[in-house]
Amino acid sequence: MASSSTAFLPKPTWQHWRIPSSLPDHLHNSCLLSRNLSFWRLGFQCLQRGSITEQMIVRSSHQAEALVDSTAQTFDVPILTCSEVIERLRTNREKHKGKQQFLAMYSSIFGGITTDPAAMVIPMDDHMVHRGHGVFDTAAIMDGHLYELDQHLDRILRSASMAKINLPFDRESIRRILMQTVSASKCQKGSLRYWLSVGPGDFQLSPSGCHQPALYAIVIQDQSPFDSKGIKVVTSSVPIKHPQFATMKSVNYLPNVLSKMEAEENGAFAAIWLDYDGFIAEGPNMNVAFVTKDKELLMPHFDKILSGCTAKRVLTLAEVLVREGKLHGVKMGNVTVEKGKKADEMMLIGSGILVRPVVQWDDQIIGNGETFSTIYASFKMKFIWK
Ligand SMILES: Cc1ncc(COP(=O)(O)O)c(C=O)c1O
Repeated sequence: MASSSTAFLPKPTWQHWRIPSSLPDHLHNSCLLSRNLSFWRLGFQCLQRGSITEQMIVRSSHQAEALVDSTAQTFDVPILTCSEVIERLRTNREKHKGKQQFLAMYSSIFGGITTDPAAMVIPMDDHMVHRGHGVFDTAAIMDGHLYELDQHLDRILRSASMAKINLPFDRESIRRILMQTVSASKCQKGSLRYWLSVGPGDFQLSPSGCHQPALYAIVIQDQSPFDSKGIKVVTSSVPIKHPQFATMKSVNYLPNVLSKMEAEENGAFAAIWLDYDGFIAEGPNMNVAFVTKDKELLMPHFDKILSGCTAKRVLTLAEVLVREGKLHGVKMGNVTVEKGKKADEMMLIGSGILVRPVVQWDDQIIGNGETFSTIYASFKMKFIWK
């Protein structure tokens, strides 16, 4: 019974936890394996001391059940050696093969490249994992070439600076590592995704205990053909990120994920964000552009959204279309929903999709609902035959 002084802040009580004096091999192994894991060391200090056979563990008086039954000696959760963990990771990967294949991974933590998907892991105590303190970028791989790598590199360095992440290497070394990772993967078509993180250290909120900034990169194979089918979008009800966070590519993509899920729940490909003033902003992992009735390419300004590398490429290609007389002008600025929905053409633009025509936004058919003989088609050809 808790005394009145402990009713609100319960004092710990003690409970005996018996451990057999002769330990099975796998337990001894797990103690050796655990030397680097501080949380593990706390619970199992009895084992590391070797001879102690009985250990007191703390439990709160609130807890209804003992952490370990003092009479039953069985563990139904296995305690695994390092090699058993790797084996299980491998089996798990083979059992759950998705549409994407992961061909190679670089990690500055192990200082090299692996092509074994079972080894493509990052440390749990990385500040990026438990606090979201990391930034990333993705560059498309086409015909074995990295598309717009330098623009993507510039952007991740900008994102890192905004997120106050020190670089583990200088720009040239990061570039060289990324190229070598793609080269080792032998990937012809897919994408390279890479992260800069404050790195591992501890589980505090402050990154002051993280002394080893990290670079991770993975090559993802994608064999799906260039898809140019017109798609539907909806307006996102998930709030857009504040410009401070929307203009950097941090790993905090929960709003983006929820927005994508909202689209899928409504039979759409993507949900479009409006900014705080109600102007058209962007999609969850793509920019948007419009071709107006008077043949002007219109794109929301990048001041409150991510400045897309593919969108910038589209702006350059659009200048060519102006010279060819197919477009009358190119403009960046505020785009109202009314203007967007009345446009002749709407397209989504990003590294994952390149350009994709939109034929319906909410209940509104865009243009004539068709994608033939359009400005989109000109962009598509320029991307494919670049
Ligand atoms: C929020 C957001 N906007 C736009 C883009 C398009 O950028 P990019 O063309 O560089 O891929 C992305 C890409 O992932 C994104 O996440």
